[in-house]
Amino acid sequence: MVKSTCRSIFEASLNMTRVVSGIRPTGKLHLGNYFGAVKSFLKMQEEHECYFFIADIHSLTTHPTPSDLHSNVKQVLAEHLAMGVNPEKCALFVQSDVPAISELYTYMNMNAYIGELERSTSFKDKIRSQKDNINAGLLTYPVLMAVDILAHHADVVPVGKDQQQHLEMTRTFANRFNHMYQTDYFKEPQAYSNTGKLIKVPGLTAQGKMSKSSGDTDTLIFDEDEKVTRKKIMRAVTDNGPSEPGMPKSEGLQNLFDIMELVSDQSTIQYFDNLHQEATIRYGDLKKQLADDVVKFIEPIRAKISHFKQDTHALQKAARIGAEKANESASKTLKEVREIIGFKQF
Ligand code: TYM
Repeated sequence: MVKSTCRSIFEASLNMTRVVSGIRPTGKLHLGNYFGAVKSFLKMQEEHECYFFIADIHSLTTHPTPSDLHSNVKQVLAEHLAMGVNPEKCALFVQSDVPAISELYTYMNMNAYIGELERSTSFKDKIRSQKDNINAGLLTYPVLMAVDILAHHADVVPVGKDQQQHLEMTRTFANRFNHMYQTDYFKEPQAYSNTGKLIKVPGLTAQGKMSKSSGDTDTLIFDEDEKVTRKKIMRAVTDNGPSEPGMPKSEGLQNLFDIMELVSDQSTIQYFDNLHQEATIRYGDLKKQLADDVVKFIEPIRAKISHFKQDTHALQKAARIGAEKANESASKTLKEVREIIGFKQF
């Protein structure tokens, strides 16, 4: 597949204009979502033409009930507003409010091959994790995601590291469409992070990335009681402690330091790192400090989430303005794609 991410990010940063990204409403947002994606949204919305959306069509692969679907969309929309995504500065919309996406998805599915879709890491993960529900939507998930991005001709897509392969597939589908129709209509979008490198925020149980589906004890959620957050951190997986100076950090401990990098002062991190080097560290102290810093970071956002969840007017207004902007852009793409494909009126 196409190009290395480092080069891509560098090249893209030289000349970026359109920005697209989405988050699935499959649970409350966590630190991974914030540092992997939303933090970049906040920076990008100041300077660029941005389209940020709640990927509710994608979330149908998990078969939510209608009432869960609606309340999850509301939750994630409120969370975007609480985190500072500003509907005046970007298009903040709900994916299913933009019908052109579904039609473009139909067309793009025709030039995505079963073999490449089956090889996608996210599909293989889902086959393992939801054995009883391996639906066609899971297989063609990368096509829908490509359409989300290509519908607005994105230059860059702020995402966490877990989405890197989907971006490669998006470029493959864009290039294949161009080749098939002898056009240069779609450009190649690049993954982006405000840190200059795509990131993966680890979970607390030393079992990979923090994720909405990886289980309650693993994930630091914004809209959660402070006591629960503290308890999760105090119970995080570590080890028996270094038995002599200079020992390497275990995976669980490294994860706690990685999370510290996101929310704590450099001097605090250095302090605990030194204690670890000297083999005098007490993990209880480290966890208490991390819990204080996480809570300090999360708390103001949590308060705003509660506020926005009650503010139906603000939610409706944001989604309506966002849908208008996104529909304008995606309908134009749909019209042009239909012409390129050869659909003509008699
Ligand atoms: P989703 O809903 O799983 O995650 C939303 C965003 O959060 C990032 N993220 C993380 N970043 C760092 N560390 C973590 N532990 C972590 N967990 C989640 C994800 O990388 C993502 O940026 N397929 C997408 C949704 C989507 C989309 C799109 C994204 C649909 N269409 C078009 C970009 C463009 C997804 O499932 O994200």
